[in-house]
Amino acid sequence: MTAPVLEVQGLKKYFPVSTGGLLHRRTGWVKAVETVDFAIMPGETLGLIGESGCGKTTTAKLILLQEKPTEGSIRFEGGEILGLQGAALMRYRRAVQVVFQDPYSSLSPRMRVRDIIAEPLEIHTKMSRAEIRERVAEVLQLVGMQPDVAELFPHEFSGGQRQRVAIARALVTDTRLIVLDEPVSALDVSIRAQIMSQLEHLQATLGVSYLFIGHDLAGVAHISHRIAVMYLGQLVELADAVELCAQPLHPYTQALLIAALPAHPDDKHERLTISGEIPSALAPPPGCRFHTRCPRAMPRCSQEVPIRKEVSRNHSVACHLYD
Ligand SMILES: Nc1ncnc2c1ncn2[C@@H]1O[C@H](COP(=O)(O)OP(=O)(O)O)[C@@H](O)[C@H]1O
Ligand code: SF4
Ligand SMILES: [Mg+2]
Repeated sequence: MTAPVLEVQGLKKYFPVSTGGLLHRRTGWVKAVETVDFAIMPGETLGLIGESGCGKTTTAKLILLQEKPTEGSIRFEGGEILGLQGAALMRYRRAVQVVFQDPYSSLSPRMRVRDIIAEPLEIHTKMSRAEIRERVAEVLQLVGMQPDVAELFPHEFSGGQRQRVAIARALVTDTRLIVLDEPVSALDVSIRAQIMSQLEHLQATLGVSYLFIGHDLAGVAHISHRIAVMYLGQLVELADAVELCAQPLHPYTQALLIAALPAHPDDKHERLTISGEIPSALAPPPGCRFHTRCPRAMPRCSQEVPIRKEVSRNHSVACHLYD
């Protein structure tokens, strides 16, 4: 069996919350991520979905070592990366790259595209100027751009073109995993499809893996092989993308799916919708965190924490309905 590219286990991130002023006392913790476990296989896209504030970006930052986990393990190609130093850490930073939602803020406005894309090579490799120039032209071509755009600045591009530059930069090293944090959410619908198919094409050509973060199930399902669903910091369901959409098990996933479908006037199906605001990550509800909004909640749901279990092959869910 092939080994995963990335494996996260028991990932947890609590952010301290303090009072302002001189005394600066800690008053609590934002439980941004708790008990998140998943693996990503070589050449696979794992989708990660959930409402805003459920911990998707924090999960991404933990993987990218931009935040330090409170607990948990992150393994890359079999080895633990937390605590890595020196050359091994550099190797990891080269292999795992990121593309954020807003390419304008992630690309330095004063740098030419050539330098933006070359930067990871200058930091992480000993390539000559000529080799770097050649590699930059090569990745520009890979993302569907002409080599002469290398002389331009980010403001000279449209949003979609800027996102292509960000993807080129993410690919320029020997990248094995790209974390895509809502990479098309800020783009026009027509451009979104182009970027998504470009990403699929790159994966088919290069065998790179993606962690594709989004809040729109239809878009994420389109590009993902498997999908993980997060609610209030926890991973509540994980399954093959096709199966998750055909047979969602968690009431939260069911609600997300219904929200993603266009409403039809003749629709006779019961619309299992969720109401109310997402509770605060400062004080998540006890038991199942979803019980305050779940249309199928039972008495035990507010007391017992459901543990995610496999209920059919490659399909796991954290919900007492399936105990
Ligand atoms: N640096 C931080 N300090 C305190 N709380 C944070 C910090 N970053 C994120 N959070 C909180 O953690 C939770 C998860 O945020 P985030 O990971 O950005 O969610 P998402 O990407 O799913 O919208 C939110 O409640 C957010 O307010
Ligand atoms: S455990 Fe209970 S509250 Fe939570 S999703 Fe399942 S039925 Fe709903
Ligand atoms: Mg986010």
